[in-house]
Amino acid sequence: MRTVKSCPRLEGEITLPGDKSISHRAAILNSSAAGKAQIDNFAPGRDCLATVKCLKALGVEIHKRGPKNFPALSVSGIGESGFKEAGNVLDAEDSGTTMRLLGGLLSSQPFLSIVTGDTSLRSRPMGRLIEPLRFMGAEIWGRGKDSFAPLVIRGRKLHGIEFSLPVPSAQIKSAILLAGLFAQGNTILHQPIPSRDHTERLLKQMGARLESDGGLISLAPLSSPLSPLSFSIPGDISSAAYFLVAGAIHPNAKIIMRNCGINPTRTGIIDVLSAMGAKIKIENERWEAGEPLADIMIESSDLRGVEVGGDIIPRLIDEIPVLAVAGCVAKGKTVIRDASELRVKESDRIAALLNELSKMGAEVEELPDGMVIHGGKSLSGTTVDSHSDHRLAMSLAIAGLIAKGEITMDHAQVAEVSYPAFWQDLLTLRVEQNKVK
Ligand code: S3P
Repeated sequence: MRTVKSCPRLEGEITLPGDKSISHRAAILNSSAAGKAQIDNFAPGRDCLATVKCLKALGVEIHKRGPKNFPALSVSGIGESGFKEAGNVLDAEDSGTTMRLLGGLLSSQPFLSIVTGDTSLRSRPMGRLIEPLRFMGAEIWGRGKDSFAPLVIRGRKLHGIEFSLPVPSAQIKSAILLAGLFAQGNTILHQPIPSRDHTERLLKQMGARLESDGGLISLAPLSSPLSPLSFSIPGDISSAAYFLVAGAIHPNAKIIMRNCGINPTRTGIIDVLSAMGAKIKIENERWEAGEPLADIMIESSDLRGVEVGGDIIPRLIDEIPVLAVAGCVAKGKTVIRDASELRVKESDRIAALLNELSKMGAEVEELPDGMVIHGGKSLSGTTVDSHSDHRLAMSLAIAGLIAKGEITMDHAQVAEVSYPAFWQDLLTLRVEQNKVK
């Protein structure tokens, strides 16, 4: 349980944890490469550690060292034919990315795999993974008429497909690409709405023959093993989002976050906060392993409501809960649409978030695919529940910073799924009454 209350000033510099999406992919792709790689600033959260545990169970030698919140991994890649049947069920824990990406990889491996997860992951949709993998020839089954995990996979030789992604999901896209690496013939994907493209970028860096123009991706099966790729993972913009919103809505704040990933498929939160009037500065842009990153600064801002929907949604899907908190403070109405995917994340993020925000006094309306927030109402401290969802825990904590009175949160430790140092970083930024200059 944690409590959060307002403070007179928020100030300081945050070192962000490594990007979760890039970390999963860096571990999986380097495991499939021929040779050793060192991955610095690997995401320290439980989700990426679940991927590492699964890869180790499949025979990959991986060592983690360095500081707990900024670990480095050394991965000894074993190529297509080095993976071994795991001696037990693989546990993806709370991580959809682990389950879906491994689902793609394991479909082409000549042994039996069973992949399960925690209660939340076992209720998330897996038919969207099973269906395209079966088109590729995979033998993959799931509970509930092939809708849910645990998944059972009897790996075999697959063939490439041409497929149009029915949902803009980077996890499904990546699963198909991982399966396509070792398949016969090319894999061609059409994505009507582009989703995060870290898999495509890493695959190109590691020598795969992949072409992409955003809407159309074409991958040739590997003719030689992937080359290992050592690099430092950029900071996670999804983690930065909490402090971007905190800085913007707090009346007396200035926060700097260095080395933040600014891949354009992930920067929807910056675009929307800027449209709301947030004072964001992006400096020192540079590149790391095909991914752009920069230092980001945010200051107290007067926000106004906005309408968000359409193609931008996949570029900020994980940031919508904290964006809704910004909407509560903004002047006027904020409308978020086309985001029904939020209902199948770690919790039903539309229902759960609006339930908690209304307990705090927010004026909100639920839509089937989003929400309407009537901003400018003051929030009050109360007991809130994270619904065991890391993104809700952190979003509600940020709401607590501007509430009258204190919020008390149950299941607050769940932040460690993606950002174990979140509560510590929040404390570091707080300037208490006696220290305000
Ligand atoms: C992710 C893709 C998104 C996102 C998730 C991470 C990834 O999910 O919400 O947190 O790393 O590929 P979907 O693929 O289900 O859209």
